[in-house]
Amino acid sequence: MPLRRSSVPRDAVHHPVFARFYARISVTADTKGGIAAHREELLSGMSGRVIEIGAGNGLNFAHYPAAVSEVVAIEPERSLRRLAATAALHADVPVDVVPGAAEALPVKSEAFDGAVVSLVLCTVRDVPRALSEIKRVLRPGGELRFFEHGLAPGRAMAGVQRALDRTVWPWLFGGCHTARDPIAAMERAGFDVGAYRGLSIPEKGPRLPSSFAVLGVARRPYTTDAPAQDVS
Ligand SMILES: C[S@@+](CC[C@H](N)C(=O)[O-])C[C@H]1O[C@@H](n2cnc3c(N)ncnc32)[C@H](O)[C@@H]1O
Repeated sequence: MPLRRSSVPRDAVHHPVFARFYARISVTADTKGGIAAHREELLSGMSGRVIEIGAGNGLNFAHYPAAVSEVVAIEPERSLRRLAATAALHADVPVDVVPGAAEALPVKSEAFDGAVVSLVLCTVRDVPRALSEIKRVLRPGGELRFFEHGLAPGRAMAGVQRALDRTVWPWLFGGCHTARDPIAAMERAGFDVGAYRGLSIPEKGPRLPSSFAVLGVARRPYTTDAPAQDVS
């Protein structure tokens, strides 16, 4: 007898155990580990239509300033998306929580004034494709706000990070990698990386492989380098 196929579409991301863990630990990290202050800094001064990629349980939502007219929050993981939808109800700005993945954003090109990634580029399957999608959906001059952890500056810790990324870390932490370099990736994707600062998460306490973070802003350039035209 042929096997029946489920009519329920598979989620782009399915990490139910990690999702439960993250839903709890992230709230503690926000309130006791100072992450809420980083979220406030990340989103300060944003305005217009914003797309947030990998919104998780929606902990950024409470920090959007009133000048933001709408947030489209993309979250592929089902249980986190449900929590994000609840968080959206309590946000001061309109937030629409939508399933989808960074590598194929379900929105029109050049539709957003701003985009936000926080603790997400470490986890997406294909960083260049995700950044190319973010660039596509931003208007020229639109800004990408980022708060991401990545590669440590020291060789010893970077070696540890690479070893963990090849073995247990992604498996333990929902596909997260510790040795990615978000600044280099954004530059390679054609963003103009503006002001940013390095920070340690958590700020106090031991340095973990996931402690080496950057917070700042990059822009989609107004013009792209088009191939020279033959005018002869
Ligand atoms: C560490 S959590 C961060 C959540 C949230 N941005 C925050 O700041 O708390 C990583 C998030 O990325 C999401 N994610 C994983 N792969 C993704 C993908 N390909 N596209 C978009 N989001 C993804 C996960 O489901 C999860 O919500």
